[in-house]
Amino acid sequence: MAIIRSKRFILRPFGKGDEKSLMKNINNRTIARNTLRIPFPYKLKDARWWINHNLKLNRKKKKTEMNFAITANREVIGGIGLDRIYGHSAEIGYWLGKEHWGQGIMTEAVKLVTEYGFERLGLKRIYAFAFPSNKASAGVLKNVGYKYEGKLRKHVKKGNKFLDDLLFAKVK
Ligand SMILES: CC(C)(COP(=O)(O)OP(=O)(O)OC[C@H]1O[C@@H](n2cnc3c(N)ncnc32)[C@H](O)[C@@H]1OP(=O)(O)O)[C@@H](O)C(=O)NCCC(=O)NCCS
Repeated sequence: MAIIRSKRFILRPFGKGDEKSLMKNINNRTIARNTLRIPFPYKLKDARWWINHNLKLNRKKKKTEMNFAITANREVIGGIGLDRIYGHSAEIGYWLGKEHWGQGIMTEAVKLVTEYGFERLGLKRIYAFAFPSNKASAGVLKNVGYKYEGKLRKHVKKGNKFLDDLLFAKVK
């Protein structure tokens, strides 16, 4: 997996030793509410599972899922990944630690990973889902040139609720 450097952060694979800062920055109710796979509270066992999951993924030759840690000062401050990498398309997903919100960090990270998907993986379509209430995520996608493609009604089950999703995509 590649390492992508920007002025403010580095995108690199998750590894052993990331557990503490991952837990510290991801353990947030809003992050859990707006995503599908992130629990709250986020425990050490969750961090260990995520890191092992990524170590296994990164050993695979054919990658259908790739996740980058967003790091600054050697701390994991967020995460961004491509999932369902099948054929010419993939789904992008991301989260950022609350103390780093509102500085354009995710706009920059999504731009870099989108370019990586198009240029390095040869993708033609990258798509994202966001809950209708998630204005910050829609703002990030709009900033990077993703277009709104529609509302998928009751697209996901979260807990015992069936929730609508907004679909955004960027094509090359
Ligand atoms: C979504 C998230 C990653 C945004 O990260 P960020 O680095 O703060 O985003 P940016 O600073 O790049 O902001 C992107 C745009 O959204 C806008 N925005 C940010 N927060 C907003 C809010 N609460 N309401 C409305 N707009 C908002 C910003 O103003 C910005 O637009 P601008 O460039 O025109 O000013 C972060 O809020 C987060 O981790 N949320 C919880 C997890 C999550 O929602 N993940 C995505 C699931 S689809």
